[in-house]
Amino acid sequence: MPRATITGWGKCVPPAVLRNSDLEKLTDTTDEWITTRTGIKERHISHVETSDMAAVAGHHALAAAGLDATEIDVIIVATCTPDRLLPSAASFVQPKLGAVNAGVMDINAVCSGFVYGMVVGNGLIASRAADKVLLIGSEKMSVLLDMDDRSTAVLFGDGAGAIVLEASDGPDGVLSTNLGTDGTLAHALTASGFGTEDDVPPEIDHKIYMNGREIYRNAVVEMGKAAAKAVEEAGLSIDDVDLLIPHQANSRIIDAVARRINLPDEKVYMNIASYGNTSAASIPIALTDALEEGRIASGDLVVFVAFGSGLTWGAATVRWGERTTPLGTSDARLPDTDKTGAELMLAVQERRRARRGG
Ligand SMILES: CC(C)(COP(=O)(O)OP(=O)(O)OC[C@H]1O[C@@H](n2cnc3c(N)ncnc32)[C@H](O)[C@@H]1OP(=O)(O)O)[C@@H](O)C(=O)NCCC(=O)NCCS
Repeated sequence: MPRATITGWGKCVPPAVLRNSDLEKLTDTTDEWITTRTGIKERHISHVETSDMAAVAGHHALAAAGLDATEIDVIIVATCTPDRLLPSAASFVQPKLGAVNAGVMDINAVCSGFVYGMVVGNGLIASRAADKVLLIGSEKMSVLLDMDDRSTAVLFGDGAGAIVLEASDGPDGVLSTNLGTDGTLAHALTASGFGTEDDVPPEIDHKIYMNGREIYRNAVVEMGKAAAKAVEEAGLSIDDVDLLIPHQANSRIIDAVARRINLPDEKVYMNIASYGNTSAASIPIALTDALEEGRIASGDLVVFVAFGSGLTWGAATVRWGERTTPLGTSDARLPDTDKTGAELMLAVQERRRARRGG
């Protein structure tokens, strides 16, 4: 039975930056509070749609894999911020890539979406339903941020990351996966205004509502358990892990997970300071940065673990292949903008106030 191996990777980070010092002017917060509680220093705010970022990341991943878009069988976009309620964001991505032979779909497991997408992509390849899958995590979380709610306004950012999964009969590829959900805590991290509910509490309408402490506690426990289970089910031990690439929600959560599974800091990848929490995009952005920084070597055991709204979680172990450098490069990029991150956030806030009639 073939398994999926990662042959391409890439990211798209929007040019407008929102620093903690900008947030100090937009909401009642301080750089010191954000830095010490979350590890975040800045995040990027998108002036384009989720599918635009996804397509740029996809172009880079395809080039890194040395593939033409027409060779892709399935595109999966992991997102909780699609361009529209329907069709899927993936439907908008397909023509932007020219992936005319691909069937496409979105997966919404919020911040766990990328790991859920890896499980689905691996399953498609193992069952021979597909040979080549383009998996993209892309999020425009900024549309859900409310500068009047400092508890969530400082946490999230926008961006996209992508990988190409191809069939492998060798030792490399996905070795084990697991997924979990506790839907009884679905309301602990939620946003409304895009769905069928007609009686929406104003505190969650078109913005994120979060019970931060509930999320924190569950994230540490479930990410630790999921990562340890995936390693065990691959027939390996934590000592065999070369790099853990966790969902980037909060540096303190990541540190606590690493401590729980006895993994030293140097084996844990963290780039949250530069991006904030980009939900389903955080793991593929982190993977791309880790490869560019030379943090992954041929044959390494890489563990991905995620946690998010749902509450959802999941983990995957991957034996890296021979190649750690891209086969090719793409010059795909987003259009320029003359707006700053703060200006883009203010525009979001004005649209929200107008919607509420305030
Ligand atoms: C959000 C989070 C950083 C808050 O940290 P915390 O230590 O639990 O902080 P609390 O919520 O207890 O708030 C402590 C104080 O900071 C204040 N505060 C909250 N947000 C603030 C901000 N952005 N700036 C300044 N102060 C803030 C609170 O009002 C509270 O003040 P009080 O003591 O006067 O009431 C933390 O709960 C967390 O990381 N949770 C998980 C969030 C997450 O990762 N979500 C995505 C999962 S995919």
